Parts: sequence; C-alpha cells; structure tokens
Amino acid sequence: MQLFFLFFSSHLLLTSSFLVLFSFLLVPLFIQWRRSIHKRLPPGSVGWPYIGETLKLYTENPNYFFSNRQKRYGDIFKTHILGCPCVMISSPEAARTVLVTHAHLYKPTFPPSKEKLIGPEAVFFQQGAYHSMLKKLLQASFLPSALKNSVSEIEQIVLKLLPSWNDTTINTLHQMKKYAFEVAVISAFGETKELELEEIKDLYRCLEKGYNSLPLDLPGTSYRKAMKARKLLNETIRRLIRRRKESEKHEGGLLEVLLRARDQKMHQITDSQIADNLIGVIFAAHDTTASAITWVLKYLHDNVNLLESVTKEQEEIRSKLVEENRGLTWDDTRRMPFTSRVIQETLRSASILSFTFREAVRDVELEGYSIPKGWKVLPLFRSIHHSADFFPQPDKFDPSRFEVPPRPNTYMPFGNGVHSCPGSELAKLEILVLLHHLTISYRWQVAGNEDGIQYGPFPVPKHGLPVRITPRRNKTLVT
Ligand code: HEM
Repeated sequence: MQLFFLFFSSHLLLTSSFLVLFSFLLVPLFIQWRRSIHKRLPPGSVGWPYIGETLKLYTENPNYFFSNRQKRYGDIFKTHILGCPCVMISSPEAARTVLVTHAHLYKPTFPPSKEKLIGPEAVFFQQGAYHSMLKKLLQASFLPSALKNSVSEIEQIVLKLLPSWNDTTINTLHQMKKYAFEVAVISAFGETKELELEEIKDLYRCLEKGYNSLPLDLPGTSYRKAMKARKLLNETIRRLIRRRKESEKHEGGLLEVLLRARDQKMHQITDSQIADNLIGVIFAAHDTTASAITWVLKYLHDNVNLLESVTKEQEEIRSKLVEENRGLTWDDTRRMPFTSRVIQETLRSASILSFTFREAVRDVELEGYSIPKGWKVLPLFRSIHHSADFFPQPDKFDPSRFEVPPRPNTYMPFGNGVHSCPGSELAKLEILVLLHHLTISYRWQVAGNEDGIQYGPFPVPKHGLPVRITPRRNKTLVT
C-alpha cells in the first residue's frame, strides 16, 4: 500500500511536472505555431527574381497595373519592385492605418542616392521629435495667415510670365515649372534680391538634372555634377544665413521662420539642417505644382463649358478689382468656389502622387495579413481616387462631385497623417492666381492631337502639353 502510494504519488508528481513544463514551454510555442498558421503574406505575384514586376509597372499604364492586381487579389496585395518586396494597399481604411493611426510602424523611405541629393536631414526622411519640430515650423511658414502676404508677389510673377506666352506655342509643363520654381524660391528664401539667390537657382537646376538621372557617381555624369552642386548649395546658403544675421534684415520665407526659431532658442537647428529643408521644400513644391497646373489646363481645354464657368467666376472678381483699383488679395481667392472645385477634381483625376512609400519598421499585421520588417508599403492614392465606390464614374471629369465633401480618407491628393503636405494651401493659391489672369485674358489650343500620359516622375499629358496661347476675344470687360 505504501509502495502503491509512493508509486502513485511519484507518478502524479511526474504528470503534474510535465503539465507545468507543458504549460510553461509548450503552450507558448503552440500558440506561436497556431498564430504563424494564421499569419500570412498578402496575395500577389513577386514576378521574376530580383526585377520582380518592375518592368510591368514601368511599361504598363500604372492605372492598369494597380487595377488588374486589385481585381485579382483584392485591396492589399504583394509585389516586387526595384529589388524590394512591396505591399500595395488601396483601401482607405488600410491607408489610414499606415499613414495616420499606426504611422510610427511605417517609416518614410527613399532611395539613398536621392536622399543624399536633397539632404538627409530634410523633413521627408524623418520620424519622431525632430520631424514634428520641423513640421510645426514648416506649417507655420505655409499657414494661410503667412501666405496672405505672398499673394501680390505671386501675382507679379504671373503678370510677368503671361505676356511672354502671348501668340506663341509653349510647352505647358516647362512654363509651369518656371512659374512654380519662382514661387517655391520665394517661399523658401522670401522676397529677396540677395546676391546669392541667382547662384542658388543655378545650382538647384544642376541638382535637379542629377536627381532625374541614373545615380552613377562617376566623373562627368549628371549625378556626380549634381552632388557637387549640392555641396556648393550648402556653402552658398551658409553665406546667405551669415549675411542675414549681420544685416538683421527680415526677408521672410521659410528661412526667416527657421532662423527666428533658432535665435529665440525655441529649437536647436544647424545651418546644414536649414539648407536640407530649404532645398527639400523647393524640391517638393516645384514639379508637383507644375504637373497639377498642366493638368488643369488640359481639363479646361477639353471641357469648354467648364472653362466658360471658370472665366465667368474670375470676371466677377476682376470687375471688383477694377472698380477698387487694386490687385488680387487672399480674400479674393476665397471667393472662387467653382474654380476651386475644378482644382479639387484635377487633383483627384490626375493624382499627381500616384502613391507614396513607407517601410515596415518591424513585423506588422495589417488587416489580417503579415508584413515582414523591411518590406515597402505603398498606399495607392490613385486607386482610391479612381474607385467607383467613392467617386462614381471615376473617369469623368466632374468638379460638381465636390459640391459635397468626399468620404473621410478617400481624397488624399496631399497625403494624410504626420507626413501630409504642408504646402497644400500654397499650391492651390498658385493655381488660382494663374487661372485668374489666364482665363480672363487668354485662350489656349492644344498643338497636335496626341492624347496620352507620360510619367517623369509625375504624370503629365504627353510631351508636356504644347499649347498655342492667343489673346481672348469677346471679353466682357477690359482688364
Ligand atoms: C499640387 C501640388 C502638390 C502636391 C500634389 C503635393 C503632394 C504631397 C503629398 C501627397 C505629400 C505626402 C507624401 C507622403 O506621405 O509620403 C507631400 C508632402 C510634402 N509636401 Fe507636398 N504637394 C504639393 C505641393 C507642395 C508645395 C507647394 C510645397 C511647399 C511648401 C510642398 C511641400 C511638401 C513637404 C515639405 C512634404 C513633406 C512633409 C513631411 O514629410 O512631413 N508640397 N506633398
């Protein structure tokens, strides 16, 4: 009996030790195993080794590339682009998770060659405290209250450009790049005639050539020249900062906002960080806005009724300006609802940034799928903007759809969340001021009949939309 008891109790002890061991060691393993069964990568094809589906993305129309895969695999699918595994997402909820609610899990990512050219301490590449400090300063610089003072400067640029187009054929994209560049330089450096400015403009143009070329750091290549220009830009901007300090002049622009924040010891910010962010803003402001204006002109050219309605709205503003003998003000630009809807619809239809890049900072789960650390995650703005669920008849250019606000998180021409665009109001202001003078005094006819889109890097009508500009006949009032 005693033996039996001893045997029984030792057996019990063994079983219970096993159970304890099981629960401590095996249960977690079991749970992990169960989880891993449920963890699955999004569906999709990764294409050929290394090149993946890169060729398809760059040879097919991106609309088809995205929509074909979305039809086949759903709103979240994987692919392989430029040597990187990627997850593309086209549901507003998943895009919001990546860009807004769980933004800390997805860092912005750019090719290192491009990051070096713009400047690694520019706002785009940052996360956390340094990013939010910069973002606040940028937002302060581009708030409507700050932009109010720029309206007449922007108007002066337009009034100088327009007569040079009269009775000529212009390449719309090239001319709009000129315009957007001038505005971007003023917003970065203020309205200034300082010696260094022409040098900065020339160096920036050289930088831009290298940015759009192959990143080959070899003697004689555009990339090498651009890297050299970038170094010189730093030195020139440093000289400009020194001069401003000595003269104690207030020239405005983002530079003044950054210097003031540093002088008042609100933030520690070095000359090199200032240079990276000034160059960054010019870079972000310039091609994007030029592409948007090029599309506005294309859509108004193709939709004569809309052009006439925009003109009518602008003429009403004009007659007030003539009566009061003054130029455009910020408040005037707030009284252009029809023209503003044309701009909203242009930004939806053309989707200047088709998508943006993020990278998972650790293994993450998104709507039941697992995304491994290091994978790129691309919210597809274009697909959301072209979904019939949110924008009925998405291929129709119809500004009236914006008479009611779009559903939350479905309209993101300027992004969403922590990295959303601080320059959205400036971009819209630039377009409004240009359209005011252009529609009142001129008409434009597209040269040639080649329709189509080219990507370089942003989508624009084929060949940059060559148009013949002529003075407008049948004006209802003299300007
Ligand atoms: C129509 C013209 C423009 C479009 C369509 C546009 C679009 C965008 C988008 C979609 C983003 C977010 C990118 C992302 O989440 O990765 C962005 C960011 C940014 N944009 Fe714009 N943008 C335009 C004009 C401008 C202008 C005029 C400025 C000048 C102030 C500007 C400055 C910036 C900056 C500095 C960022 C980075 C913000 C950050 O990382 O926190 N953009 N833009």
